[in-house]
Amino acid sequence: MKIARTVAEVRQAADCCKVEKARLGLVPTMGAFHDGHVSLFRAARAECDKVVVSLFVNPAQFAPHEDLARYPRDETRDAELAEDEGVDILFAPPADELYPTGFHTWVDPEGTGAEGVRRPDHFRGVATVCVKLFNIVQPDVAYFGQKDAQQAAIVRQLIRDLNLELELRVVLTVRDPDGLALSSRNTYLSADERLRALTLPRALRAGREAYADGADPVAAARAAFNGLDPDYVEVLDLGNAKLLAAAARVGETRLIDNVVLEGELT
Ligand code: PAF
Repeated sequence: MKIARTVAEVRQAADCCKVEKARLGLVPTMGAFHDGHVSLFRAARAECDKVVVSLFVNPAQFAPHEDLARYPRDETRDAELAEDEGVDILFAPPADELYPTGFHTWVDPEGTGAEGVRRPDHFRGVATVCVKLFNIVQPDVAYFGQKDAQQAAIVRQLIRDLNLELELRVVLTVRDPDGLALSSRNTYLSADERLRALTLPRALRAGREAYADGADPVAAARAAFNGLDPDYVEVLDLGNAKLLAAAARVGETRLIDNVVLEGELT
């Protein structure tokens, strides 16, 4: 596996793939790999000839009071795992490679509810780094996880709005056996907090069951949130799928999750 640190290096490596007319898959990540990332790598591996994974803890998507400094980082382990999964190129640039001094241009999606309301500049940071990664790597397909469903919807919209030439795949959320959605931020949870965090998937399941019975999923999920105070519980319409999404803080850790109410994520 080639590890690229600069835009020039990853461009050169990705161009070599293009010369071979390979189908190129990109999995954008912030590292601290878990089985959710592995499922994205495997989806890319199954559909593409070459797989590029970017590993970049994007400062632009964290607000000043958020967890940028303590976000879990373990590049050595991540590189081993990516190599074991057959990733061809790992793009792990330093921050000033993507945001050099004098960087002034942002991609700012409008009207982002739910997460966008609680984290005002978050999707601007996500959209900007994704457009940069798409321009740099020029993938045929990019892979995103369902857990960040609103992010995937925003990226789908920006691909359409900016006439980018790539397909987007949304891969189903991977959960621990007890139902907690895998997230790099789960490592922040103490044993007691981890137990309390299970309220989030439970409440979403209660909402989904209510919806199937013709009742209000938001009210049902809210009623099942015992012990946790959700930031929001909202139905998100992603075009091809309707989701019930929620965020809640457990101690210092903010978790998000969602379930599909109807339709299919593609
Ligand atoms: O989902 C993530 O890990 C990040 O938001 C992404 C898409 C890699 C952009 O920094």
